[in-house]
Amino acid sequence: MFKDYPNMLPFFKHIAKMTYDEMRSSISLKATLISFKFQIVGFIENLDDPEVFVDLIEGLADNHHLRGITPRLFEVKSIYILHVVI
Ligand code: HEM
Repeated sequence: MFKDYPNMLPFFKHIAKMTYDEMRSSISLKATLISFKFQIVGFIENLDDPEVFVDLIEGLADNHHLRGITPRLFEVKSIYILHVVI
């Protein structure tokens, strides 16, 4: 993802200065990706529970907003996720 969308990298301060090889073995990047995966699983498991689903989305939006991450970056990442899945 960072190769395709380098504009996202500066937000990931703990890995921004790593080489791609270092990223591949980074424990902290692995931990972030595990959190990401569980967040997606949480969305999917709660598609039929609108109150919980909305709460999860709002929580994600709030804590990413605090990091300066804009809706536009979410669109880019969503398109990327679809590319990986399809
Ligand atoms: C479907 C979209 C996304 C999901 C499900 C997601 C999920 C998560 C989760 C679960 C975390 C770790 C928990 C936390 O600290 O809040 C996280 C952290 C983070 N996310 Fe996202 N995220 C998404 C989109 C984005 C986008 C578009 C960016 C833009 C660059 C981004 C940048 C970050 C950053 C910088 C962190 C902190 C990483 C760290 O310091 O370990 N995320 N994200």
